[in-house]
Amino acid sequence: MSIRTLDDLLAEGVSGRRVLVRADLNVPLDKQTGAITDDGRIRAVLPTLGALVEAGAKVVVCSHLGRPKGAPDPQFSLGPVAGRLGELLGAPVHFATDTVGDSARSTVAGLADGQVALLENLRFNAGETSKDEAERGAFADQLAAFGDAYVDDAFGAVHRKHASVFDVPARLPHVAGRLVLREVEVLSKLTADPERPYVVVLGGSKVSDKLAVIEALLPTVDRLLIGGGMCFTFLKAQGLEVGSSLLEKDMVETCRNLLERSGGKIMLPVDVVVADAFAPDAAHDTVRVDGIPSHRLGLDVGPETVAGFSAALSQAKTIFWNGPMGVFEMPAFAAGTRGIAEAITKADAFSVVGGGDSAAAVRALGLDESSFGHISTGGGASLEYLEGKTLPGIAALEN
Ligand code: 3PG
Ligand code: MG
Repeated sequence: MSIRTLDDLLAEGVSGRRVLVRADLNVPLDKQTGAITDDGRIRAVLPTLGALVEAGAKVVVCSHLGRPKGAPDPQFSLGPVAGRLGELLGAPVHFATDTVGDSARSTVAGLADGQVALLENLRFNAGETSKDEAERGAFADQLAAFGDAYVDDAFGAVHRKHASVFDVPARLPHVAGRLVLREVEVLSKLTADPERPYVVVLGGSKVSDKLAVIEALLPTVDRLLIGGGMCFTFLKAQGLEVGSSLLEKDMVETCRNLLERSGGKIMLPVDVVVADAFAPDAAHDTVRVDGIPSHRLGLDVGPETVAGFSAALSQAKTIFWNGPMGVFEMPAFAAGTRGIAEAITKADAFSVVGGGDSAAAVRALGLDESSFGHISTGGGASLEYLEGKTLPGIAALEN
């Protein structure tokens, strides 16, 4: 793999040169106030930005936020992110109110050496995510005009074949930023030769989202622990009744097949917390998985499950965790996720947390981030990496 790095670019000298940085500043926002609820992804790109600022580059940062539909949409503006990025950098960030229009052109032209600009949300332009090569290419041409070199530090978006990720590096000298390098270094340890036992914990709501990674991991892992909303489809596949819990009916057969082929590696919950409704104050109880009442829904794994999963984790030498065990945003249903996270921090293992949601859970629950080996900024990206897929953003850097 021949990827040039930020250090290679710095060694060439970037003083006075315009460096276009693709970051993943897709941070969660409070639905009511629009405030940034977790700035982990902004912090994660600071080492790259700081090095470029220090070296006197004119730094032009671009990112997506949320999933606007190819046109400006104020609720997805990167304006608040520009403010937070400026606070963390300790210097103002010049915000362009469009992505490749007049504001962007004049903002970039006005940058002094060592200053930072942030362009408005890339996805306000249909060209960013277009499946049409020519449409993406035309947008990539406009973006590439803002840089003399390109740095990809958007690990969370490397699995997207988007203009800023895939087409811009074909148009400019390109390197991987510090975050992308670190993420690839860590995840490649999990795929190459993980120290054993290698235990993977998967949660989250949908089996269908995780199917490919489960298929890819089964031959590799020693244990696969499954919690979260998706465990109910597996429990159903074992012939249990799951009440009104989340259920993907069309995946039951697939889950049955996976369980049969898993050679006993898959561990499922033995007890769950069931509630009358999906609400923070809903009445709830812990029941065995063979006793889920028909009118109630499971919103967390139970204490016996946490104990069993924790025992498996305590043996592990390598751990990968993606997806919460329950609805951790509601305190009544957070114990499962907290318990598993704590077991991971206690294990004498190299641990990787993958995924926006799991990383946010770690911080929201007030857990010490430094007690994990690595917290990935990529959800889909880290899963696709572990599946062994070619990631368009990485492939583009290799050429
Ligand atoms: C993420 O949050 O997973 C990344 O920022 C990618 O966003 P996307 O799934 O909307 O492409
Ligand atoms: Mg995603």
